[in-house]
Amino acid sequence: MKITFDSSKKKLKGVVFVPVFEKEGIPSLLKKEDSLGFIEKAVKADDFKGKENQICVVFLPEARIILIGAGEKTNITAQGFEKLGGKIASIAKTLKKKEISVYTEGLKENDLSNEKIAAEIAFGFGLGAYSFDIYKHEKEENIRIEEVIILTSNPIKAQTLFDPLAAVLDGVYETRDLVSEPSNMMTPSEFVDVAESIKIKGFDTDVLDAKQMKKLGLNLILSVGQGSVHEPYLLIIRYMKGKKGGAPLLLVGKGVCFDSGGISLKPGRDMGDMKYDMAGAAAVLGTMISIAKMGLKTNVVAVIPLVENMPSGTALKPGDVVRSMSGKTVEILNTDAEGRLILGDAVWYGQEKFKPDTIIDIATLTGVMNYSLGSEYAGLFTTDEELSEQLMSAADETVMDHLWRMPLHKNYDKLINSDIADMANLSSSPEAGSSTAAHFIGRFIQPDIKWAHLDIASKAWTKKDLPCAPKGATGFGVQLLTKFILKNRVS
Ligand code: BES
Ligand code: MG
Ligand code: ZN
Repeated sequence: MKITFDSSKKKLKGVVFVPVFEKEGIPSLLKKEDSLGFIEKAVKADDFKGKENQICVVFLPEARIILIGAGEKTNITAQGFEKLGGKIASIAKTLKKKEISVYTEGLKENDLSNEKIAAEIAFGFGLGAYSFDIYKHEKEENIRIEEVIILTSNPIKAQTLFDPLAAVLDGVYETRDLVSEPSNMMTPSEFVDVAESIKIKGFDTDVLDAKQMKKLGLNLILSVGQGSVHEPYLLIIRYMKGKKGGAPLLLVGKGVCFDSGGISLKPGRDMGDMKYDMAGAAAVLGTMISIAKMGLKTNVVAVIPLVENMPSGTALKPGDVVRSMSGKTVEILNTDAEGRLILGDAVWYGQEKFKPDTIIDIATLTGVMNYSLGSEYAGLFTTDEELSEQLMSAADETVMDHLWRMPLHKNYDKLINSDIADMANLSSSPEAGSSTAAHFIGRFIQPDIKWAHLDIASKAWTKKDLPCAPKGATGFGVQLLTKFILKNRVS
């Protein structure tokens, strides 16, 4: 889908969406375009007040005007306009039109220029218009919006403001595509192929196969993958366009392309959902795309362990002990607690090889996140106040990548001690399951390195349509991590 900007003058053709705030009335510039006053007549006849979700359709000779109630305008932020764009997209999608326009004049808000508003609406529209239908054949169903034209008085300025948002949109789309793909299509090697096919300046990939990982002692990653016919990989993406020699930010994403639970097999119900257990990996890749497309002056390295967790005669078994790359040994008590295993090796490898000053890992790590935070927030685990503050404030500036701080505690850490190894991959008590999982990763973080863990188990996928994320993969993390980098890591 193409998003373009055009002048709002004399462009009322085809289907034109017009957001209208309560008490603000029809934009005066729009009235000028409608010399016969049809719009005002229709608004009166329909008793259209601009209340949220109210709609009024006006037929002009050459245009179908769809007035969309935007509700009260008080203190609307950039994210409010994004949501508005997303809502318009969700209605627009149902019309089965190839081209539509959105009129963005007359919405000005104190801190935001007309052009900024146009760019934010465009971004939200892009987020909401996403669909994943490559496996559908019915042609009728498949009529999609090919072009959305954002009407504004200064299209060139709006386009300039939109450019960085377009880079984020590309990252979010790639992430959603990867997460939506079923696991027979999106295997570890396929994920690597996707990353390797990306050609953006400064975006460099390296890959370790199983043999190379064996040499380096990345046995936690290998052990999770050993039950599958699909070979595990460690994907590395370097983007080093910041200060020469400056310590990078390390992003680590959980890439379990399918999590059956392994020998500790999951129940059949909803097991298919576990195709999205690589959403952390996909979010990291999407973030690398978005920062590279923006050409940011920053140093970021991504380390992405990719495996499939399957039961078989060669699979890892409960009771096994595995020596990690760090040298620490791990007793496997449950093969379904596999995410922490691959992340333990991945963060260790990333620290040894790239000497980062900060690590953020992102993972669909524990199902119980859904009990604690539901679908509003992802869990943020860190002991670093500054990093916490930076991530929280970046999250607040996104439309739905919201975070809630969760606790780490030395008594939770004790729960993962093992009788026969340095640690166990399952807590000895069911309490605070998301925190004990975080502590497991924490045991592989070297002193003096800032670290935050994001558990996105309840945010990576939405079962219902949201304004800026249609049912399915949300792309959680791309907007958050990109904002975090933009605000804190650019030289
Ligand atoms: N991938 C799952 C967590 C998950 C569950 C993510 C549902 C998204 C939706 C993870 O590997 C897992 O299986 N965790 C176990 C941990 C348990 C064995 C300690 C869980 O949540 O049940
Ligand atoms: Mg699991
Ligand atoms: Zn998992």
